[in-house]
Amino acid sequence: MKPLLKAHLTSQFLAATLVSLGLSSSLAWADGDLKRMPAGAPKAFQSECASCHTAYSPKLLPAASWGRIMDKLDKHYGLNATLSAEETADIKRWLMDNAATKSKRLEEPPQDRITEAAWFKKEHRRISQTTWANPAVKSPSNCAACHTQADKGRFDDDNLRIPR
Ligand code: HEC
Ligand code: HEC
Repeated sequence: MKPLLKAHLTSQFLAATLVSLGLSSSLAWADGDLKRMPAGAPKAFQSECASCHTAYSPKLLPAASWGRIMDKLDKHYGLNATLSAEETADIKRWLMDNAATKSKRLEEPPQDRITEAAWFKKEHRRISQTTWANPAVKSPSNCAACHTQADKGRFDDDNLRIPR
C-alpha cells in the first residue's frame, strides 16, 4: 500500500473509532463541561446562595475571588448575606476546591463579579440594551433568565431562551 493512502485510511479508521466510542462529541463539549456544577455542594449553598439569585457554579470564578466573596458576606453587593461561621467555612472550602482552573477563567474580575469578567463580556457582546433592560432579565447576573440550566452550570445553545 502506498504510504499516503495508508495514512488516509488510518485517520479515517481513527475518526470512525472515536465516533463509535462517543469521544468526538465529548471533545466538542469539553469547554462546556468545565463550567458544570460539581456534585457535593453543602446544603447551605443550595438553600442560601441560591435563594436570591442563580446557584453560580464554582467553575465561574477563580478560587481567590470566591475566598474574598465568602470573607465579606456582611457586605455582599449591597446586601448582608451573613451565614453561620460553620456554613460559611463549608461553602468557602467547597467553592475554592471546585473553582475555575482553566487559564482564561483565572482572571479575578472587578468586584469579583462573573459578569465583569472579560470572557463574560465577550460571550454576551451581541445582546442588545433592550434585552438587558427587559424586566424578565433585570440584571446580567440573572443567568437563569436566559440559560434555563444555569443552576447546573450548563450554558450551551440548547438551553438558551432569551426573554422577548
Ligand atoms: C440576600 C440575598 C443574597 C444571598 C443570600 C446571596 N447573594 Fe450573592 N448576590 C446578591 C445580589 C443582590 C447580588 C448582585 C446582583 C446584581 O448585581 O444584579 C449578588 C451577586 C453575587 C455574585 C456576583 C454575580 C455577578 O454579577 O457576577 C456572586 C458570585 C454571588 N452573589 C455569590 C453568592 C454566594 C456564594 C452566596 C452564598 C454564600 C450568595 N451570593 C448569597 C444577593 C445575595
Ligand atoms: C439576557 C440573556 C442572558 C443572560 C442574563 C446571561 N446570558 Fe450567557 N449567553 C446569552 C446568549 C444569547 C449567549 C450566546 C452568545 C452567542 O452565541 O452569540 C450566551 C453565552 C454564554 C456562555 C458561552 C456559551 C457556552 O457554550 O459556553 C456562557 C458561559 C454564559 N453565557 C454564561 C452566563 C452566565 C454565567 C450568566 C450569569 C452570570 C449569563 N450567561 C447570563 C444570554 C444570556
